[in-house]
Amino acid sequence: MCGIVAYVGDREAYPIIIDGLRRLEYRGYDSAGVSIINGSFNNYKKQGKVSDLEQLLEGKDLHGTIGMGHTRWATHGVPNDVNAHPHLSGDGNLSIIHNGIIENYASLKQALENLGHTFKSDTDTEVLIHLIEEIRKGEKDLSLEEATRQALQKVDGAYAIVILEKDNPDKIVGAKKSSPLVLGIGDGEYFLASDASPMVKYTDKVIYLEDEEIVTIERDKGYQIRTIENKVTNPKVLQIDLKIEELEKGGYDHFMLKEIYQQPVTIAESMRGRINAAEGWCKLGGMELHMNRFLNAKRIILTACGTSWHAAMIAEYLFEDLARIPTEVEYASEFRYRNPIITPDDVIIAISQSGETADTLAAIKSAKTKGAFLYGIVNNVGSSIPRETHSGSYTHAGPEIGVASTKAFTSQLTVLTMMAIILGYQKGKISEDYYHRLLSELESIPAQVAKILNKSEQIKYIAGEVRNASNALYLGRGYNFPIALEGALKLKEISYIHAEGYPAAEMKHGPIALIDMYMPVVIIATNESAREKIISNIQEVKARKGIVIAIITEGDDKIKEMADFSIEIPMIEEPLSPLLSVIPLQILSYHIAVMRGCHVDQPRNLAKSVTVE
Ligand code: G6P
Repeated sequence: MCGIVAYVGDREAYPIIIDGLRRLEYRGYDSAGVSIINGSFNNYKKQGKVSDLEQLLEGKDLHGTIGMGHTRWATHGVPNDVNAHPHLSGDGNLSIIHNGIIENYASLKQALENLGHTFKSDTDTEVLIHLIEEIRKGEKDLSLEEATRQALQKVDGAYAIVILEKDNPDKIVGAKKSSPLVLGIGDGEYFLASDASPMVKYTDKVIYLEDEEIVTIERDKGYQIRTIENKVTNPKVLQIDLKIEELEKGGYDHFMLKEIYQQPVTIAESMRGRINAAEGWCKLGGMELHMNRFLNAKRIILTACGTSWHAAMIAEYLFEDLARIPTEVEYASEFRYRNPIITPDDVIIAISQSGETADTLAAIKSAKTKGAFLYGIVNNVGSSIPRETHSGSYTHAGPEIGVASTKAFTSQLTVLTMMAIILGYQKGKISEDYYHRLLSELESIPAQVAKILNKSEQIKYIAGEVRNASNALYLGRGYNFPIALEGALKLKEISYIHAEGYPAAEMKHGPIALIDMYMPVVIIATNESAREKIISNIQEVKARKGIVIAIITEGDDKIKEMADFSIEIPMIEEPLSPLLSVIPLQILSYHIAVMRGCHVDQPRNLAKSVTVE
């Protein structure tokens, strides 16, 4: 949450910064601001989106070759002009942008107020820049980086920060702990940003800063990285493989729509080089290196947040059903704080699109101290979770920019399904026949997803029929219960319709009281194993005049006749069915949100990468 970008070099800084902020807007979009040095110190900020800031800046002199920008997701202080970043020191000479939370800001603020500091905003960030200013007051010659280092020693919490100094148009200081910060190294120019997207046009050389590292960039001297303990480090410069087209909408109206339509390709990318049904093999490099840990695991614990948590829920069915390994699923935020019993025989799998979610990161850090083996399933290459785990598999879905996760989810499911098949086979828990059938059906998923995408117009029609609902219920059983949760989450996060996901049989224990003629009930009715029971659930909804939207297997005329609307998906082995049944639910939510005039890619109050706990 919060996106930061900074530049120093020979080019005009402002266009790079504003373009970078647009790319980082997925991280937060309640206010934005810039600092540019060009003889004078130009600091502007504005409540609202980056486009609102751009309007404010029209006609302003923003020439200059050093500067920084910020797009905010509010933690301390409501989103308004004053609380927007950058924040200035008391004397106005220093400017800071920050992503994270300074947890002990209240006591620091009190101490600074006792020394005569006054604050304009309600933010924790302003406290930090005043603290740096205060440290320098004692020693006029103290460098900005040294004062920053000393200040950060007094700080608890998470930060990625960038600081500029009015009288020093050649220097940028940045630092990070628990929030991401990437240094981009160009030809005589440097970038700092929350991720690599603002810099890919200019360079593919990056350093992902580690926690408690401080980077000083000087226009003609280059960069130097020190730890908070003042030790110089020499991290490896990495070459990233990210193309600018991957960060554009590519002709689609929204990133979410593009990402939904990319799924035949992204699911195939998740499997590339990892499966060959004709030759009868499936392997994941990260697993192979540690196969004994998996085969001897007494328990698998999956931890994640949001949509990734729903992928974890499905993995619980997969690992128990196919590999017969006891499996638990934990919300990362709860896992960490409830003193869980973890042993060295446990395998902990963290699932995350961004690889930066603070709760997931904190959960695995604490599990690590108990000796468990940590495996990461992450999309964002080079992010923090892969650096914290013992091994893992990237999902290779490419950058996901729409805040509501779609292609990242199906790529996570693809990897988790491969893991369960591998373990089931190697442990002798699934037959040779079933193994080969699962492999070949898994390979067919991209083509089957493409077929479902062709039903978009039909799904759009259904969306039109239910767009004015205030509530919606999603029901599923077995492998498709977590898909009911995911369908409900997709709808509520982008269309603001209140939606609940439930195991179909649980409906009788509460939600049935809500059903009336205005209530759409989406029922995933593809499970062969529970077919008769699902039919009963549909009848229960119909008896109370609910509007049934059924996701059915192709040719299931019986359910089709009972439902008000039905969407057919291809027949597939049940463990693979979530990969198909989620697609119509993504499309349905998308169309409903568009029809309701909602901002699909940037739903209110949400952010894509949640780097605060
Ligand atoms: C946020 C996003 C969700 C995402 C969740 C977990 O809430 O809006 O789309 O599922 O974070 O993020 P992660 O990057 O760890 O998968």
